[in-house]
Amino acid sequence: MEKFSGKVVIITGASSGIGEATAVAFSKQGAKLTICGRNKERLEETAKKCRDNGAEVLQIVGDLSKFEELKPVIDITVSKFSRIDILINNAGRLEHCPISELQLDLFEDLFAILVRAPVFLCKYALPHLKETKGCVVNVSSTASLKTFPLTFNVSYEMFKAALDNFTRGFSAECASYGVRVNSINPGVVKTRLVENLKYTKEQQEKIMEYFSKIHKLGFMEPETIADGIVFLCSSSHITGIMLPVDSGSLNA
Ligand SMILES: NC(=O)c1ccc[n+]([C@@H]2O[C@H](COP(=O)([O-])OP(=O)(O)OC[C@H]3O[C@@H](n4cnc5c(N)ncnc54)[C@H](OP(=O)(O)O)[C@@H]3O)[C@@H](O)[C@H]2O)c1
Repeated sequence: MEKFSGKVVIITGASSGIGEATAVAFSKQGAKLTICGRNKERLEETAKKCRDNGAEVLQIVGDLSKFEELKPVIDITVSKFSRIDILINNAGRLEHCPISELQLDLFEDLFAILVRAPVFLCKYALPHLKETKGCVVNVSSTASLKTFPLTFNVSYEMFKAALDNFTRGFSAECASYGVRVNSINPGVVKTRLVENLKYTKEQQEKIMEYFSKIHKLGFMEPETIADGIVFLCSSSHITGIMLPVDSGSLNA
């Protein structure tokens, strides 16, 4: 039998990169999927790949940095599939911005998608996860565990660290319900998030030289992170951990 047969999995940020690879990975294991993203065409591409693997897929197009768009993700999923087993909080954004240039709008937008969205999706999903003894994986970053030179992504690092602490605290709250909550903390993965960073050419070259040196096993593909997410969802007694999938970069 397929590992996630009959399980209902919500994946945010599934229109690209790690979220897309995660949706495809679950679709191969019998799961039913709710996939979310802003870009309708790219979300449709993910849905098609998942359906080709035999999965039932619900697409929700929306901006999860808007508070009022969070609860419907849970409500629409439950009205379609009648249950939730797994929530993958993956949607995220990385903006290069030194604190000296930081504007309130950007700070609040980053907070909304990197922290507020996962926290409130967890809150709204919790009654359903209690019923299924389900689990949550929050997609964090190695940037929550270590500050990297040259990058000037302080807000991102800070909000991913907040997400890690949320994972710890919420996992403690959920353990008595049999609900597990973990983070996965990737190093550099080849996705749009990295490709679209607005560094100067010179900054970009220096940063990439540094990161390629410390990623001793090379930069990763999204599927590598999807494997880690599936592993965390497959386990029965792992909760409250940050799992680095870092290609050796934290130990460099
Ligand atoms: N790539 C890396 O090196 C790396 C390393 C560590 C951690 N991460 C984390 O991994 C996660 C996925 O990133 P990725 O690398 O796969 O990047 P990606 O390819 O750019 O994908 C990001 C996803 O998040 C969605 N998203 C962004 N803002 C959103 C919003 N306001 N509302 C709804 N959806 C939104 C995007 O949707 P649309 O495209 O449809 O707007 C897209 O599906 C992020 O949390 C990121 O911080 C990435």
